[in-house]
Amino acid sequence: MFLNTDQQWPLNAWYQAAWTHEVEDKPLARTLLNQEVVLFRDGDGKACALEDRCCHRATPLRLGDVVPEGLRCGYHGLVFDGSGRCVIIPGQERIPPQAKVRSYPILEKQEIIWIWMGDPALADEAKLLVDFPWNDDHENWPHYHDMFEIECNYMLLIDNLMDLTHIPYIHRNTIGGGDQKGQVDASMDVTPTDAGVHYIRWMEGIVPPPTYVKGAGFPEGTLVDRWQEFEYVVPSSVLQWTGALEAGRGAKDNREQAGGFNLRLYHGATPKTETSCYYFWTPLNGYKPKDEAATKTLHKEIAFTFTEDLEFLESQQACMAASMGDTFVNIKHDVARLPARRAIERMIRAELAALQAAE
Ligand code: FES
Ligand SMILES: [Fe+2]
Repeated sequence: MFLNTDQQWPLNAWYQAAWTHEVEDKPLARTLLNQEVVLFRDGDGKACALEDRCCHRATPLRLGDVVPEGLRCGYHGLVFDGSGRCVIIPGQERIPPQAKVRSYPILEKQEIIWIWMGDPALADEAKLLVDFPWNDDHENWPHYHDMFEIECNYMLLIDNLMDLTHIPYIHRNTIGGGDQKGQVDASMDVTPTDAGVHYIRWMEGIVPPPTYVKGAGFPEGTLVDRWQEFEYVVPSSVLQWTGALEAGRGAKDNREQAGGFNLRLYHGATPKTETSCYYFWTPLNGYKPKDEAATKTLHKEIAFTFTEDLEFLESQQACMAASMGDTFVNIKHDVARLPARRAIERMIRAELAALQAAE
């Protein structure tokens, strides 16, 4: 009963619903996994999520207001607390027990509001597989949060992050330019994990791309050793650490050296529908943490870079719909993408099997 019929995603998992700062004193509506949800903070400041439909006359609760007792419907003023129970009916003392809306388990951690869209009885903090402590460390890893809505299936976005051979083409003016051959010939060390896949990619002695030159101020003619370390964690997170040091500084043995360029990035791809998703992202400035202008420039550069991806992802989705074909050819560079796909398929299959066993 908790599974969507075409099995595009697992339901019993934590998904990013919002960044913490997005949920303040007003209701925030999102379509998550085909369900209309409204987020708000209760009187204690706790983030809560309800079905975005008043049980009185089916008015979206997003049109209401946050009051100390909970979320007040904008039509006739019924108020619902964070558990979805109606606690106030203006002008009526008795509150019928059926006056309630569905509520969703919420977890707030590391500046992310996580939501559990499946069976609430199975929601468990231990099932949150993502750990990104740098989000809490604004002093050493300053950053801003952002979100794009993309008209593509969430796994097309994960695919994009699992195969970086796209960067010299799509991102030639930002993170990809510089040295096309060095990038396509990058070494790839891929390790499938229980929860996804980890890889590290090295490009040694390459011309740094424009974003890196801008950030680190590498003088003309400098060659760098560049790394890209990515981890996909089911169902929809990617953790990244990338950077470069001048060639000859031994980056491969020690990436923690001062200077050069490096950033961490958290990516969250939450399905909206089968053909659309929310892309939550934040680039963390690890190379000039005391320099606020550098953090802003980095954010701007990454925003521009991701709009370049966005255009391709939406075109890809449209092309798939138009061609009605889902046959693809795998090449050498799908070496991390394929285990990522296998991990999400495993998770979906396990959920289906558990459901069938319970019937
Ligand atoms: S529709 Fe919500 S209070 Fe009437
Ligand atoms: Fe990209």
